[in-house]
Amino acid sequence: MKEEVPATANHPNPYVTPKIMKDLLRLRTSLSETIEQILNDQIKMEAEASAMYLAMSSWCDRNGFDCSAGYFKKQADEEREHMLRLFKYVSDMGGRAVSPGVSNIQIEFDSFRNVFEQALQQEIAVTQSFNRMADKCQKEKDYVTFTFLQWFLTEQIEEEYVARRALELFEVIGEEGTGQYEIDKRVPKIKYEDTYEG
Ligand SMILES: [Fe+2]
Ligand SMILES: [Fe+2]
Repeated sequence: MKEEVPATANHPNPYVTPKIMKDLLRLRTSLSETIEQILNDQIKMEAEASAMYLAMSSWCDRNGFDCSAGYFKKQADEEREHMLRLFKYVSDMGGRAVSPGVSNIQIEFDSFRNVFEQALQQEIAVTQSFNRMADKCQKEKDYVTFTFLQWFLTEQIEEEYVARRALELFEVIGEEGTGQYEIDKRVPKIKYEDTYEG
């Protein structure tokens, strides 16, 4: 145990130094602590989404749904890209980007359909999270981060669309007979177009 020494000019208190350092570091970035924190929370959420999609890919592989396994692997890669995009932004802005710990990722799913239900649920939760972040940025008058977030908000249109369409295949095709086989084949072909011409 270090002895606590009162701070004087000759005797800088070691317990005080980190606080001063932190204040100095604050001068190097316009990111408020609140915004840095919510960005790091989102970095973690994207990492968790990536791990979840990878777990879904594994489940599909184990249960004979090869095409969906490939689709979820691709989704996992995309979520990692999202994580890195946020990570780079925090770093570029002079903030402290934290490499997140991810644990307790679900391994088993109730059914083929349940995998897609959870995927859609996850995307909706991510959209809601970005909406809350945008709201925070406006309250904090951080328009730099607010602008940065626009890419993610637009991206979520596609993310939700694809997840919703995949789940709808269960209604459109039906699971009876070769239904699940057909659904599996169709999943990777779902494409989002932002015009009617596409
Ligand atoms: Fe994402
Ligand atoms: Fe996503």
